[in-house]
Amino acid sequence: MISLQDLNSLPPPQFVAALSGIFERSPWVPERVAHARPFNSGLSLHAAMCAAVDRASIDEQLALIRAHPELAGRAAIRGELTPESTREQQGAGLAACTPEEFARLHQLNGLYTQKFGFPFVLAVKGHNRASVIAALDQRVENTVEHERAVALREIARIAGFRLADLVAEPLGSRIIAMAEQLARFSERQDALVCSYLTPAHRATAALIRDWMLGAGLQVDIDAVGNVIGRWVGTAASSPTLLTGSHYDTVVDAGKFDGRLGILLPIAVVAQLRGAGVRLPYTVTIAAFSEEEGVRFKSTFLGSRALAGRFDPAMLDSVDNDGITLREAIRAAGLDPAEIPAAAFATGDLLGFVEVHIEQGPVLLNESAPLGVVTSIAGSIRCLVSITGLAGHAGTVPMHLRRDAAAAAAELVLAIEKCCSGTPGLVGTVGQMQVPSGAMNVIPGRCELSVDIRADSDQVRDGAFAAVLGESERIAARRNVDIQWRKVLDVGCVPCAPKMQQLWADSIRRVTGSAEVRRLPSGAGHDAMVMAGVTEMGMLFVRCGNGGISHHPSETLSADDAELAACAFKDFLLNFPVPS
Ligand code: GLV
Ligand code: MN
Ligand code: MN
Repeated sequence: MISLQDLNSLPPPQFVAALSGIFERSPWVPERVAHARPFNSGLSLHAAMCAAVDRASIDEQLALIRAHPELAGRAAIRGELTPESTREQQGAGLAACTPEEFARLHQLNGLYTQKFGFPFVLAVKGHNRASVIAALDQRVENTVEHERAVALREIARIAGFRLADLVAEPLGSRIIAMAEQLARFSERQDALVCSYLTPAHRATAALIRDWMLGAGLQVDIDAVGNVIGRWVGTAASSPTLLTGSHYDTVVDAGKFDGRLGILLPIAVVAQLRGAGVRLPYTVTIAAFSEEEGVRFKSTFLGSRALAGRFDPAMLDSVDNDGITLREAIRAAGLDPAEIPAAAFATGDLLGFVEVHIEQGPVLLNESAPLGVVTSIAGSIRCLVSITGLAGHAGTVPMHLRRDAAAAAAELVLAIEKCCSGTPGLVGTVGQMQVPSGAMNVIPGRCELSVDIRADSDQVRDGAFAAVLGESERIAARRNVDIQWRKVLDVGCVPCAPKMQQLWADSIRRVTGSAEVRRLPSGAGHDAMVMAGVTEMGMLFVRCGNGGISHHPSETLSADDAELAACAFKDFLLNFPVPS
């Protein structure tokens, strides 16, 4: 391996030589980016080289594709591949093809080269012989133009894998660079939005999968879109420590909520594996596909499926376009019937731990980079529909109106009042709409969302009952109908004392500070669901900008990401495995 710092300071010829294996027999690619140094992460170096390929002429691009060997072709048999290609082809089992597989590959390779005039290029990491043959079989049908683009995309992925094996860099800056790269996949140009099973969401999953493969994990995508990566332990049937968080986002989100708890473990495991470490237990990283509830007003779809707590009735819920969850899952090429099979065998679970930004100002105000979570607040979420009577804004006198929006406004203030003044209790109306509303029409209908949370179930339930009482009084006084539909009811979840202790020990060791901040979480997390099936613990990492979250100005410093990665590494290395 070579450090990013060294790559940045080498004279250009040595820089090009160091990167000679990244783009197959094509030194012109690193040559064209040498002047753009210093790169602040391996990912930005990768992006710069891929951009150089994009800008190259079609002849140069074709030469790059043609520099690649055929998969399981004659050069492979004669041992004439680059060391990188040899490793990759062997990794996919291509050196051990049966005579039938060889014959099929040979035949398809022949058809392919005849049609396109260049060899079939595939990033084989994560593939086996059958899936390589299936991919070749499918791609031979592409048009020439499309296939050239696909080949270049595969070459970019290969370069990403090779670069991750070659370049060593600080974990903190790597994690920040990964989060920034993921944030480029969005449903909107002007804001980060990554809601369940949209194209942006699927592109995010694909990149997370690549990073897991690059870290040497065995990766699967389950029936709800969770990306699951396993680093198998030393024993044949190792028990498993699960870790992870969600990769979906709220609307106009920050880059770190959820994603930190996926990217940080990937970076740490890659480093440990690269250093030859083997653990006596399996570490499984779960990138949960849905936690925020944006598209289907459901939360925790990903962790519920993994915990075996998925409610099949959810499949009938619809998004704003009338698409059911079942249809969305099918459209993504996943099979709703397979959801029960996504459940983790909890018998061999050692626990679940989640690393998450704090999403609040406590650690920041106390100058503590890391904290141990003691419990996660429970929450009730409801969708409320108010029906009054629409009418002409100019003709109906005020005392005769049944204005649904005015009733909603009163309800919002009642929620604010019922949830104020009790520490730990909060109530929020985050969405409010007048469907088919117009400037000159009295609102006949108003829809809103209600979210009430507390660190005590009794307090939360008391507040909810008070809000329902107010809702009835408002409905009676204003002669409107108010319907409540509960979409989430999760109780407050304590973190396992053992996990709290282990995190506290790790924080002490990596920060050198005797005092460890312990704090409750007001935000919900996948860890709440996982606590239903195994011992659960959480590490909080300080955010900047006053602790703002669910907002684009959510921040995390590279130094804090580095420290959190060190704490996670320490946690893994010291995790007690029962004998
Ligand atoms: C999850 O982000 C929540 O709403 O707490
Ligand atoms: Mn969130
Ligand atoms: Mn989150």
